[in-house]
Amino acid sequence: MTEANAGQKLYWNDAPGVKWITHQQALDRMNHSVAELVLNAAAPRTGEQVLDIGCGAGATTIMAARAVAPGGYAVGLDISGPLVRHANKRFAEEGLDNAEALQGDAQTQPAPEQGVDLALSRFGVMFFDDPVAAFVNIRRLIRPGGRLVFACWAEGNPWFDLPMQAAVAQLGPAEPKPADAPGPLAFREPARVRDILEGAHFTGVEIDTHEVPLVIPEGLEAGLEFCKHLGPISRHMTDKNGTEADFDAIMDRLRPAFAAFDTDQGLMIPGRVHLVQARA
Ligand SMILES: C[S@@+](CC[C@H](N)C(=O)[O-])C[C@H]1O[C@@H](n2cnc3c(N)ncnc32)[C@H](O)[C@@H]1O
Repeated sequence: MTEANAGQKLYWNDAPGVKWITHQQALDRMNHSVAELVLNAAAPRTGEQVLDIGCGAGATTIMAARAVAPGGYAVGLDISGPLVRHANKRFAEEGLDNAEALQGDAQTQPAPEQGVDLALSRFGVMFFDDPVAAFVNIRRLIRPGGRLVFACWAEGNPWFDLPMQAAVAQLGPAEPKPADAPGPLAFREPARVRDILEGAHFTGVEIDTHEVPLVIPEGLEAGLEFCKHLGPISRHMTDKNGTEADFDAIMDRLRPAFAAFDTDQGLMIPGRVHLVQARA
């Protein structure tokens, strides 16, 4: 039998996981509005036990740990060793004694004796090869009646669409792959998310779509530089064996498209996310 999420395990323990460490500060700034959306909806209370699924470098674990102190605890769970080590280093630097990151797969992580009060996630739940099995397991990690709150990308995000269009215009279309394959956009269809959660026996599923600003305060050139390392362009370049010249041409196509979002406060890319809430 193949190990669960073997492909994602390789991916996030290799160069892409390391890129999320290198660009952690810029990613956290860009996605801060989404962290606030999740934490405001989840409303962690003093003394609660919180699980942050796919915690990455730990930004939302830190927010949760602060919200539940004193007496509460936040655990980040992530499949990536490098990101877990980085998150634990940040918790120590922040002087937090009620936060910790563990390396593990949310799809198979053994349930503790007592489940957490709240499981949350910012963009960490779209990478399961069997999402129903993963959410059945996540439900076991939450106490009966406890909350699940996460954000996932919706359809219609220039942050993904414009770089991909520029890359396809230069290098041709991507190889077809199943529409629901694990990846950042796997949960873009609310009906699918509802089916997965109800299939995993969560109750009271609510899905609301929100417009959020994705901010790169340093502006257009920093945003373009960021796209070189993260997102669809670097993936498409690898898939198509793109050259440096291809890369420059893609950036020349993307620059005028992103320029429309350049403001006095920096590059403000409109984002669309689903905020998903349910009960275990
Ligand atoms: C897009 S990143 C988001 C990271 C973080 N939540 C944030 O907002 O900065 C997705 C994260 O999910 C983690 N991940 C992917 N599949 C996972 C799984 N099966 N179990 C636990 N974590 C997983 C990855 O290692 C990665 O850190």
